[in-house]
Amino acid sequence: MAVHKMKPELKIKAIENGTVIDHITANKSLHILKILGLPQDEIVNVTVAMNVVSRETGRKDIVKIENREIDSKELNQIALIAPKATINIIRNYEVIKKDKIILPKQITSIIKCTNDKCITNFESEPITSKFHTIESQPLVLRCHYCEKLIKNEDIEKQFE
Ligand code: CTP
Ligand code: ZN
Repeated sequence: MAVHKMKPELKIKAIENGTVIDHITANKSLHILKILGLPQDEIVNVTVAMNVVSRETGRKDIVKIENREIDSKELNQIALIAPKATINIIRNYEVIKKDKIILPKQITSIIKCTNDKCITNFESEPITSKFHTIESQPLVLRCHYCEKLIKNEDIEKQFE
């Protein structure tokens, strides 16, 4: 009998319909799920693979969301955490669309300004935060209201 010396590989089940977010920065998949804020009132099957071996980048995470096609507005928010991610839309087991993530020029609402005195952090009448992308790698944003610069580390902390 032949002895197979192939490395054991972890295979995650292919999905029939939905969205596969692939090439996520290793160990960042839970941040992504937080950003997407999947509705709690629906039953959504989500599979997460963390820190798996990838051809190009060494290690990566994968998130598979069944029966849901994620729209581009949601996707671009993922760019804050996983700039190299790709989005695959699956229908009837086939990848019908593959997109790279695009870092938006403006980011609204999902992150907070780190300046306590910023108008967006006022307790009485808080207004929705808004940032402009200044640099992409490493990521730097500027608050639209108080001009404070927000760096990559500050952003990641908010999703922990
Ligand atoms: N996938 C899935 N279910 C399917 C089809 C694909 O879960 N029915 C997943 C694959 O496991 C992979 C991703 O969707 O993680 C993209 O699939 P595919 O384009 O076939 O893989 P690659 O060619 O390796 O993708 P890339 O070139 O983006 O690395
Ligand atoms: Zn601010």
